[in-house]
Amino acid sequence: MVRRSIEECRIIELPKVSDPRGNLTFIENSRHIPFDIQRVYYLYDVPGGSERGSHAHRNLHQFVVAMSGSFDVDLDDGVNKKKFTLNRSHYGLYVCPMMWRLLDNFSSGAVCMVLASDFYNESDYFRDYNSFLIAARESA
Ligand code: TYD
Repeated sequence: MVRRSIEECRIIELPKVSDPRGNLTFIENSRHIPFDIQRVYYLYDVPGGSERGSHAHRNLHQFVVAMSGSFDVDLDDGVNKKKFTLNRSHYGLYVCPMMWRLLDNFSSGAVCMVLASDFYNESDYFRDYNSFLIAARESA
């Protein structure tokens, strides 16, 4: 396995068609984000103080957008950590495989949309931080 670095994870600015009637943003498969989209899911009605995530994926690429409101995404590649705040719907965070992530600090009414490179597959998850660390460091 190739070691993944947190430096691969980045904020991507999306096209924004500004209009007095309301703004429009679009995302085209692998044109605006570095993978093909196989799945979309979203988190909403998140109670104040909740945390989501706390896992990593072996192979999944994801792109996270705050469709409404704001929240923080803490990423950890097993060596380095970075915090991103998402609060605009025309920016998103690309998260490469083998990144431990924690989402927290959700504002009231926040909606977190995630585009993913594959279908849901529980065997792609690391849910135990120590197992993730061992795998991440083995690939170094
Ligand atoms: P999970 O990815 O563990 O979210 P979080 O880490 O934020 O709690 O998913 C929570 C539950 O939802 C888990 O039982 C799996 C299920 N799930 C699906 O069935 N399909 C999906 O696409 C996703 C993302 C989750």
